[in-house]
Amino acid sequence: MTIINNLKDNFFTTFKTNSENVFFSPGRVNLIGEHTDYNGGNVFPCALSFGTYAVVSKREDREISVHSLNFEQLGTIDFNLDNLSYEKKHDWANYPKGVIKTFEDHGFNIPTGFNILFYGNIPNGAGLSSSASIEVLTAVILNDLFNLNIDMISMVKMCQEAENKFIGVNCGIMDQFSIGMGKENCAMLLDCNTLEYRYSELNMTGHKLIVANTNKKRGLADSKYNERRNECETALAELQKVKNIACLCELTEEEFENIKDSVSNPIMAKRAKHAIYENQRTLKAVKALEDNNLELFGQLMNKSHISLRDDYEVTGIELDTLVSLAWNIEGVLGSRMTGAGFGGCTVTLIKEEFVDLFIEELTKKYTEKIGYEPSFYVVNISDGARKLI
Ligand code: GLA
Repeated sequence: MTIINNLKDNFFTTFKTNSENVFFSPGRVNLIGEHTDYNGGNVFPCALSFGTYAVVSKREDREISVHSLNFEQLGTIDFNLDNLSYEKKHDWANYPKGVIKTFEDHGFNIPTGFNILFYGNIPNGAGLSSSASIEVLTAVILNDLFNLNIDMISMVKMCQEAENKFIGVNCGIMDQFSIGMGKENCAMLLDCNTLEYRYSELNMTGHKLIVANTNKKRGLADSKYNERRNECETALAELQKVKNIACLCELTEEEFENIKDSVSNPIMAKRAKHAIYENQRTLKAVKALEDNNLELFGQLMNKSHISLRDDYEVTGIELDTLVSLAWNIEGVLGSRMTGAGFGGCTVTLIKEEFVDLFIEELTKKYTEKIGYEPSFYVVNISDGARKLI
C-alpha cells in the first residue's frame, strides 16, 4: 500500500517522529432519500472507497498538532486541550477540534495531546461529505488512542453534534452515520427517526453507479441548507395543529394530501411535500432494488431529482444540466443529485457498457453549456471508518 507508506514518510517529515498508527474514514454517496434525515425519514446511503486517511502519534504534553496534505498552504495548525474554542483562522482544523471538544463535553477525558497528519482523496465541496469523514475519523482516533470504548453509533451522534454546535451547520445524521457504519458492497436503509438500520447488498451485475461532480464551488455552511430545515419546521408546526405527529416523515403521501391545506405558505407546503414523498419513495426504491428491479429503482431516482428540483428547489443549473443530459444517454436507468444540493454531485445508475459513452457525452455537452468540465468517479462501496494498522 504505497499511499500508507507515503503518508508515514510525510508524517515523519512534518513531526520528526515515526508512527505506525494509520486510520481511514470514507466519504459517502446517498442513493436516494434526500433531505429526509432531519425530517425523521429514511435514507439509503453507502460509504465510498475514497475518503480521509490519518497517521497519528500521542504526545506527552497537552498540545494538538494537525497537518493536512490537502491544505499545505495553511501549514501545521496547533492548539491546546485547554482551549478548544472555534477559531476561524484554524479553518479545516475546526472539524477535528469540534469533535475533541464534543467528546470532552460528554465527559470523555482526553489526557494528552497528539499529532495527526491528514490526507483526503474526496474532492472538497463536492457534497461527498469530506467534513463528516474527518469528524468520524477523529472520533475513531480518539477512541483508539485513549481506549475510550465508545460504540460507533454514540460516536456518530457526537460527530453530528460537533457539526451542529461547533461548526454551525444544522445537518441531519445521515452523513456521519453512513461513514461510521458503512459496509463493503452494501447501501444502508436508515430510519433517521429511530436509528434502526439494515444493510442491503448491491448486486448490480452489469451495471455501475457513477458519481459526476458539477465542480461548482459550494459551501454547505453558507448555503440555503439551514433555511430549508427552518421551512420544514414551520410546515411541521402547522401540520401538528391538525394531526399528532412528531416529524414530517411520519405522514404517508395520502395523509399529507388530506391535511396539506393547513400549511398556509405554499412554499412551505412544497418543502413538506418533498420530504414526505421522498421518504416513501426511498422505501419503494429499496424494495425495487431487493426485488432486482433496477429499472424501477432508476425511475424512482429520476422522480427524486424532479422533486428536489421543483418542490425542494435545491438543484440549480449545474445539477439540472448533468441530470437532464444523463437522462438522454443510452444505458442510463436513473440519475439524480445527491447530498445537500446547490452544486456538488449527481449519482447515476447505468449499464456498464455505456459508461465510456456517458462520460464522453456528459463532458462535451456539460462543458458547452456551463463553461467548465465535470469530473467522474466510479462508485466502489467500502466499510466505515476504521483503524487500518
Ligand atoms: C447534507 C447533510 C445531511 C442531509 C443531506 C441531504 O449532506 O449533512 O444530513 O440532510 O445534506 O439529504
